[in-house]
Amino acid sequence: MESDGAAVGSRVADRLLEALLAEKPRPLGLATGRTMAPVYAALRQRLGDLEPVRRRAALEGWSSFNLDEYVGLGADHPASFHAAMRRELGDPLGIPPDALRLPDGAAPDPDREARRYGAALAAAGGIGLQILGLGENGHVGFNEPPCAPGARTRCVSLQEATRRQNAAAFGGDPERVPQRSITLGLAEILAAERIVLVVTGASKAAILRRVLEDPPQAAVPASWLLAHPDLTVIADRSALGLSPSPPPAADPRPPGSS
Ligand code: GLP
Repeated sequence: MESDGAAVGSRVADRLLEALLAEKPRPLGLATGRTMAPVYAALRQRLGDLEPVRRRAALEGWSSFNLDEYVGLGADHPASFHAAMRRELGDPLGIPPDALRLPDGAAPDPDREARRYGAALAAAGGIGLQILGLGENGHVGFNEPPCAPGARTRCVSLQEATRRQNAAAFGGDPERVPQRSITLGLAEILAAERIVLVVTGASKAAILRRVLEDPPQAAVPASWLLAHPDLTVIADRSALGLSPSPPPAADPRPPGSS
């Protein structure tokens, strides 16, 4: 447990950096969304603090696959996940677009694009470290409930709750949020070598509790993650239903001493 989103970001960035500096790095699985902003800020900082030789080594081997993209949005649309990744990591770190992969939301045949994306991931050997955010309805990527653990990379319809949750990037209007997306499947996510589920903020407390306490079930897609042999959940106090700041530690000194 970490105190807040920034502390969570720093912890997750450590995991990402470790994966980037591994002797034989495997593709990273990356997410977008508000939870990830402090993660990528911390990662930029960590990489900036490295010696130039190590920094170059980490970035030269970069290979990542994002979870999802909205159907109908091209890479140049400011609310696309392509644009978010370019802003957060691609441009500031100088990562070439073909190393920072996402499904193509503007592809003329989205179902075919989903199959192409799944095949590209398989050809790259699958995900090493998968970073995930959590939707308020329990989705990971855009695997909306109900979702079986064997669901593969595909084109999905987004629920109204999800379109409301993501409306901020579309001027606050849920109607402007695309109705469909291409998402990595739970099957490909669960096949990752290691998974880190990142959860921040009080709005996620109820669903995180269900993920952690209820038996794995299709109604809560993220609950299948608990069956993974190498899952880490990194959450802040609010997401765990605690007050944002811990109570001050008791002063062990007797009164009157200094
Ligand atoms: C979004 C994305 C997920 C993201 C999750 C949480 O809809 N499809 O990849 O991790 O929902 O989003 P946020 O971090 O903005 O709360």
